[in-house]
Amino acid sequence: MERKKVTLPEIQRKKEMGEPITMLTAYDVSTARAVDQAGIDMILVGDSYGMVVLGYDTTVPVTMEQMLTAAQAVARGAKNPLLIGDLPFLAYQVNAEEAIRNAGRFIKEANMDAVKLEGGREIAPTVRAITNAGIAVMGHVGLTPQSVSKLGGWRTQGTTAQAARKLLDDALALQDAGAFAVVLEKVPDRLAELVTQRLQIPTIGIGAGVHCDGQVLVTHDLLGLFDRFVPKFAKQYAKLYPLMLEALSEYKREVDTRAFPAPEHSFPIKDAEWDAFLKALDEERETHATNTFDPTADTERVYG
Ligand code: KIV
Repeated sequence: MERKKVTLPEIQRKKEMGEPITMLTAYDVSTARAVDQAGIDMILVGDSYGMVVLGYDTTVPVTMEQMLTAAQAVARGAKNPLLIGDLPFLAYQVNAEEAIRNAGRFIKEANMDAVKLEGGREIAPTVRAITNAGIAVMGHVGLTPQSVSKLGGWRTQGTTAQAARKLLDDALALQDAGAFAVVLEKVPDRLAELVTQRLQIPTIGIGAGVHCDGQVLVTHDLLGLFDRFVPKFAKQYAKLYPLMLEALSEYKREVDTRAFPAPEHSFPIKDAEWDAFLKALDEERETHATNTFDPTADTERVYG
């Protein structure tokens, strides 16, 4: 059956009908195509790109230009999922005007359907400003990696009564500001369940238990492509890194032993053309030899 483009009302309908919502990250065209073909509802071009593809230790150094390049590639590959561009650090924190401009770049230059940003009550006015400009916004509370230093590391959030209360208030503030969904990252499952029940918009969990309206994973974690560490909340559905290493090593072995390329990877030229080519070379050589022969030349080499 032909898949239809996923829209915001469809995401909201799933929340209301209790149907799980699926989201994965992608940063390139092939992954985007595969995620689309797997029937996933939403693709997040996450700033995790900075860590799993660009090799930074955190998401903090990622720039708007890097995010736009990745988002453009994803949009060329995925036609059906709702596409969300992740606003990188300092693309929306300085003021609402800059936030609208950067959010707008994802829509105008990279064909995204929505943007995501991190933060709670403090960022709600910015969420309001971006949605007022006609751009859909997904919120993100709990562990917000752009503030990892301020949070004191990659620790679970909302683990005290006071922090749990703050997290609920943050999620409600994002909803009131017009966000269409909220990511809950690395929070206790009971808290995520309560937030999910209190919100009218969907919650998308990552390390937030099974009771969120939807789930998101970093696709490199799911595929076992990222070899540096595996977060506790990520399930590896494949282990592609060792497979990749094996294939690369096999290639090296075959080039070293001249087993690759084989005849089936090479291109022929017809015998008649080849013979004509060799004959032409011979004739050229003979003509050259005749033209350059000078019997009076002193061919003996002397020093001095
Ligand atoms: O950047 C990202 O991949 C994210 C997800 C972890 C939600 O923000």
